[in-house]
Amino acid sequence: MTPKYPDRVAIAHLPTPLEEMTRLSKHLSGPRLLIKRDDQTGLATGGNKTRKLEFLVADALAQGCDYLITTGSPQSNHCRQTAAAAAKFGLGCSLVLTGKAPEGETAVTGNLLLDQLLGAHLYWAGGRTRQEAMLDVAAELRTMGHKPYIIPLGGSNVMGATGYVQAMEELTDQLQDERLNVDFIVFASSSGGTQAGLVLGAAIYDFHGQIIGVSVDHPAADLQTSVAALATATATHLGLGTLSLAARIDVNDDYLGEGYAMVGETEREAIQMVAQLEGILLDPVYTGRAMGGLIDLIRWGAFTRGQTVLFWHTGGAAALPAFADKLINS
Ligand SMILES: Cc1ncc(COP(=O)(O)O)c(C=O)c1O
Repeated sequence: MTPKYPDRVAIAHLPTPLEEMTRLSKHLSGPRLLIKRDDQTGLATGGNKTRKLEFLVADALAQGCDYLITTGSPQSNHCRQTAAAAAKFGLGCSLVLTGKAPEGETAVTGNLLLDQLLGAHLYWAGGRTRQEAMLDVAAELRTMGHKPYIIPLGGSNVMGATGYVQAMEELTDQLQDERLNVDFIVFASSSGGTQAGLVLGAAIYDFHGQIIGVSVDHPAADLQTSVAALATATATHLGLGTLSLAARIDVNDDYLGEGYAMVGETEREAIQMVAQLEGILLDPVYTGRAMGGLIDLIRWGAFTRGQTVLFWHTGGAAALPAFADKLINS
């Protein structure tokens, strides 16, 4: 299978490093642990959206668009990376954030601070759906003579997922060069573009390990369905015909906790453990939860000592200050 990749712009620092977490592995008496550092993609503190934006921005430029519009939560890493990509290519950026503008200490911190430093225009969806609010913003921009390009939540469409198809090619090259075999990949999954791309990439580049998305906010069955649909659509988009990838989509929803962005002991322990043993910063919403899940799986013996687990770090540490009061044990 040879995918026909669309054009992309170069934004990310690639390949991202592949490192070993020896102290964490020893501490947990667990399997060999590797980490793929997509928190180091380099775009205004980096993260997984940078790979997606390489294809999305190329598409926006090819269509002659001069504004990027996207949406997310107030502390969205995707919104912050979109704002940075827009700045780099001289495009305007409008961000539709859920709910109402926060007041008090979290009003201008974390990603919300960076969005504004990066020059993005912020809109609050209030009672409207994200999609309605984005369409309103797009209509307003058109009346002002602009040509907006709408990027869906999390950049999870066929263009965005393509970034993670290529990421799987990058990983399989690194594993071959370093003569490493990976049995499991574990990472945070939410809007599904990362997982769809990885699963399709695994089929294309012959990666045989198990790919486990730790759901951050959706029941497993729902996320499996949307990831399968996106993976199949992405295969078609890349000229690979109709592939059924549903059987390869593995979602674990045991760590939904109190809900999206609700930081509890799982996330707090994981963030502190990885920071203090490896000097690596996870984020409170996504990677803290996924690593908390991985730590729990190791503790109850889901992996043998002889196996190798790769944690795919998808970024997000820029959000840490916004959750400061939840992260330090009092
Ligand atoms: C840090 C981080 N990790 C993981 C994800 C989930 O990626 P996806 O939306 O592609 O499932 C996100 C999405 O916003 C994120 O910001």
